[in-house]
Amino acid sequence: MSLTGLFLISFLIVHCLLNSFIFFNDGGLIFNTGAHFMATNWLIRAMEIVLFLGLILHAVQALVLTMANKKARPVGYAKFNGAANSTWYSRSMGLLGTLILLFLIIHLAHFWVKSRFTGLPGEDANGHENLYAVMQETFTHLWVVVVYCLAMISLAYHLLHGFQSAFQTLGLNHKKYTPLIKGVGTVFAIVVPLIFAAMPVAMYAGIVK
Ligand code: HEM
Repeated sequence: MSLTGLFLISFLIVHCLLNSFIFFNDGGLIFNTGAHFMATNWLIRAMEIVLFLGLILHAVQALVLTMANKKARPVGYAKFNGAANSTWYSRSMGLLGTLILLFLIIHLAHFWVKSRFTGLPGEDANGHENLYAVMQETFTHLWVVVVYCLAMISLAYHLLHGFQSAFQTLGLNHKKYTPLIKGVGTVFAIVVPLIFAAMPVAMYAGIVK
């Protein structure tokens, strides 16, 4: 789970960076150029398949792990005080992951299905497919903006535990480096979902036009 998780984290970094091009506020020209490169580069297209396989594998691994845990203790603890030595979000990774999966279904229908299958509304001034226009239209609906923001809160908590847990599972437990990994993980888990959430909010508010 840690390896697929870290792979998905690397995707999030690239996805967040590329989408951040909308903040150039240039009518989407730079963003569409980036999206065009991603859509036409064979290596990226091949990685897209690996990404979807990684996503499915991560979810399947989570299911298998949960079932193994249940099997190992079919009868629950007589007294269970999880809060004594763990956070609520570390005990709710399955629920948070399921919420992210539900978000992904809506999200892929919004963008990926249109860009790959059903077609985009036209081209921008540079002659690139106008994925930016789809984003603008999608984020005119308040419910969509709210769903995206709630999903980013789920993502933040999922990453808050997942990031440092991945390194721990890999056996990277070190007096000096573990606090550093936890620190980087906390910053990452807050900053990346915040940047993502800023996208629908900025477009809905008309800050990014
Ligand atoms: C909230 C802000 C986000 C925006 C504005 C956004 C935008 C986009 C766009 C425009 C695409 C289509 C790319 C293309 O077809 O070329 C896309 C695809 C995708 N997004 Fe997002 N995204 C956001 C957040 C996320 C998050 C948080 C995740 C994962 C948890 C995610 C996962 C994906 C996946 C798996 C794809 C399909 C693979 C790909 O085309 O790269 N997105 N997103």
